[in-house]
Amino acid sequence: MQPILITSNLKKSYSLGVKHQINVLDNVDMVARRGEVIAIIGHSGVGKSTLLHLIGALDRPDSGSIEIDGHSILKYDDRTLARFRNLEIGFIFQFHHLLQEFTALENVMMPALISGKRLRECKSRAIQLLAKVGLNNRSDHKPGELSGGEQQRVAVARALMNAPKLILADEPSGNLDAKSANELHQLLWSLSRKEAQTIIVVTHNMELARMADRRIHLREGQAFEE
Ligand SMILES: Nc1ncnc2c1ncn2[C@@H]1O[C@H](COP(=O)(O)OP(=O)(O)O)[C@@H](O)[C@H]1O
Ligand SMILES: [Mg+2]
Repeated sequence: MQPILITSNLKKSYSLGVKHQINVLDNVDMVARRGEVIAIIGHSGVGKSTLLHLIGALDRPDSGSIEIDGHSILKYDDRTLARFRNLEIGFIFQFHHLLQEFTALENVMMPALISGKRLRECKSRAIQLLAKVGLNNRSDHKPGELSGGEQQRVAVARALMNAPKLILADEPSGNLDAKSANELHQLLWSLSRKEAQTIIVVTHNMELARMADRRIHLREGQAFEE
């Protein structure tokens, strides 16, 4: 089967002022197949978030190519890319990035509303997803009225809203206590297994990394399979 993600020769550097440049990713080749859970590990500052942002089309590399489900996404203009991202990629960040002034239900509905689906359809799917993550009785709460673990579960439901093929998670449990972290990991796994979605998760949590199908170690700008 065709891989869901292929990156070839990805390079990314950041300029600091006029003179300084830091080369973060030097030559990253990686492949992810449908339904796989891949953990990305590596020291702080090695470029894990940078890599996830490139894969998720939140930023562009200096050179190299990224294919998602057969689409060379770097050839897309920004508008097409935004649409592709909305439909095909789900994001879960360490700090959930929920919209504070909206309820849990509204936050979960957001990706579908942006993609132009009908309100009633969005609402019924969002209600189902909140139930799946165990928050059916919290749908009217705003993020500030939820615990950290609950907020992350809302973020998971939101990431699943448009049924993306690829879910990218950047240290999703980095901010949670051990019990909530464990619950979040189990939840992600069971959801991805049911829907054959691919999850790429950056983590410092070795227990989580061990649960993954594969581990990719980022070191000196390159990706090594463990
Ligand atoms: N927007 C940016 N501008 C300049 N430097 C950056 C920027 N984003 C990240 N960096 C630098 O790139 C390196 C990799 O960062 P990051 O991808 O966040 O690492 P990780 O997620 O592995 O901790 C770090 O040295 C960081 O300081
Ligand atoms: Mg990071």
